Amino acid sequence: MKKLSWIVLMLILAISLVACGNDGDKDAGGDKKTVGLAMPTKSSERWVKDGDNMKEKFEELGYKVDMQYAEDVVENQVAQIENMITKKVDILVIASIDGEALTEVLNKAENQGIPVISYDRLIMNSDHVSYYATFDNFEVGVLQGRYIEEQLGLENEAGPFNIELFAGSPDDNNAYFFWDGAMSILQPYIDEGKLVVRSGQTDFKQGATLRWDGSLAQERMDNLLSAHYSGEKIDVIYSPFDGISRGVISSLKAVGYGSGNNPMPIVTGQDAELASIKSIIAGEQTQTIFKDTRALAEKAVDMADSVLKGEEPEINDTETYDNGKKVVPSYLLVPISVDESNYQKVLVESGYFSDADLK
Ligand code: GAL
Repeated sequence: MKKLSWIVLMLILAISLVACGNDGDKDAGGDKKTVGLAMPTKSSERWVKDGDNMKEKFEELGYKVDMQYAEDVVENQVAQIENMITKKVDILVIASIDGEALTEVLNKAENQGIPVISYDRLIMNSDHVSYYATFDNFEVGVLQGRYIEEQLGLENEAGPFNIELFAGSPDDNNAYFFWDGAMSILQPYIDEGKLVVRSGQTDFKQGATLRWDGSLAQERMDNLLSAHYSGEKIDVIYSPFDGISRGVISSLKAVGYGSGNNPMPIVTGQDAELASIKSIIAGEQTQTIFKDTRALAEKAVDMADSVLKGEEPEINDTETYDNGKKVVPSYLLVPISVDESNYQKVLVESGYFSDADLK
């Protein structure tokens, strides 16, 4: 009997030793594996949170992390990824600047057998993208469009209401999804004449904002206001991203909106950036979309960890994200619409921001 339990004990020991040897976070020599994290820019708060969250979670799992930001310069991002490949990182997690610009560098990753995970933004024109972690980007646009529909009561009100439309960066696949989602709600009202785009700029291309740059949006808004709204009031600005919203708001304030008898128009947004939540509390921006960067980071880290362990990551979409070379298996998280009525519950009670942050 004693001998038998001894054998069982030895067996358990042997199995756990083998299991340790299979750890995804160690390479064959027992060294920690390295994750290359290529991030777009620190100029927007969300990407800083995304990067910090991923780094922390990878490190908790025992990985080393090489994280680089490229400050929205495409060539810098390509060089940073090249450098990571030269240093033989074990996996790349990339939030691209220009989704179309990475085909060549990903060929190099493929030659070195380094898997790639596309983070938040889809990397286009490469079959070397293993998985994609993001939010339901079409739904983001739907939530923004529906917010406008509800706030104006478009189903019942005759209008007409004046609206201007902003789109995201044309080199970011997400921008088209946000636009298409929003237009799936707004276009029928534009066709019907309840929503009027006085500038006539109703195409994605006309509303596009390169690199999501708020100062470009501000400039465009200045021009729209002076060309089409002297003596006319604007009721709504469809903006897909908080940085654009804040640029638009500066322009509106400069001509007197938000003071006296001149209320701010409805201004949508996305990312629940701190400056925009403060702006919502101050009655300037109207709405944003909360995409919990903690959850997205966790998803991407789980995906990478599974890939490195030779396991199948969890995915929930195998149809939507065609990058021109393949349909990339994806995990889509759920976005939430936030305004003055629910920011406390969604953002503060969940610990995303503290009350002190919002002061
Ligand atoms: C998109 C992203 C948005 C927003 C925007 C500008 O790709 O999905 O949440 O952050 O970029 O950074």
